Amino acid sequence: MDVKALLQHGIQLTDAALEQLLPAATVVPVSIHSAMRHSVFAGGKRLRPILAMQAAAAVTGQVSAGVERLGAAIEMLHTYSLIHDDLPALDNDDLRRGKPTCHVVYGEAIAILAGDALQTQAWEVLSELDCPPATTVRILRLIAQAIGTVDGMIGGQVLDIEGEQQKPTAELVDAIHRAKTGALIRVSVVAGGLFAGADPAQEQALDLFGRKAGLAFQIVDDILDVTQDSAQLGKTAGKDLTSEKATWPAVFGLEQSQQDADRLIAEAFAALDLFGERADGLKAVARYLVERKS
Ligand code: IPE
Ligand code: IPE
Ligand code: MG
Ligand code: MG
Ligand code: MG
Repeated sequence: MDVKALLQHGIQLTDAALEQLLPAATVVPVSIHSAMRHSVFAGGKRLRPILAMQAAAAVTGQVSAGVERLGAAIEMLHTYSLIHDDLPALDNDDLRRGKPTCHVVYGEAIAILAGDALQTQAWEVLSELDCPPATTVRILRLIAQAIGTVDGMIGGQVLDIEGEQQKPTAELVDAIHRAKTGALIRVSVVAGGLFAGADPAQEQALDLFGRKAGLAFQIVDDILDVTQDSAQLGKTAGKDLTSEKATWPAVFGLEQSQQDADRLIAEAFAALDLFGERADGLKAVARYLVERKS
């Protein structure tokens, strides 16, 4: 499995879909369309779309045509969450994906609205997915839940912000990580599978894989915040410590954190047994999730 080529192919498919689906920067009002494009095309890893593509491949044996639009919509939602995460009222970051953050370039008002607009655009794209209407509705509902307030991204962001300057517990950091990051990763995998026609047993397997990989992903994000520099990360390193964030290393230490991430990925792999070799791509992406350096 050539993981580099697989990732590169996923990035290309995602970027082409995003290019087509987002209004041009010249469309009025140009400020918001420029702001949306600034953040979307700043150079993300596109891991959530790639997970959706490889989940589809696990089900059918190939990356289904049209799954890149599902991936693009998920990437819009992810980018919206990043724009808002970086705002002064949240993490107050000025570097993202190696570029100045949206609010630094366009001001807070336009950055807030650009995040909102990416979310709105995502629902429109999802409503037009090339799959049976009942599947589209299921995907819409699952994604809405994954970024909502109950065990979803927004709820996790609330716990994360309210957890600052408190002594973090294992229960708290587990809840934060599953919600703020794990839920969107998990639904990326499940939605990719559903798009490709996964049956209930396959859906359940993808869900378990997504849960494990999603938690591992945020543990690694916390580790990299400590071990890498800003140039490598494309975002401000060491920020979690200065903000007194509830992170996995803060509770368990760096060594245990790496062990937990590795164990979760091994468990995630085991969940994919019923797919046989068709899940090799998904496994390769999962391995990359824990071995990445940015
Ligand atoms: C960063 O996500 C934010 C988290 C949820 C931890 P990624 O590491 O996927 O960021 P990009 O999309 O590659 O910039
Ligand atoms: C971000 O978590 C989670 C979301 C954007 C929902 P972090 O605050 O740890 O992400 P980074 O480290 O800024 O990318
Ligand atoms: Mg944050
Ligand atoms: Mg942050
Ligand atoms: Mg982080």
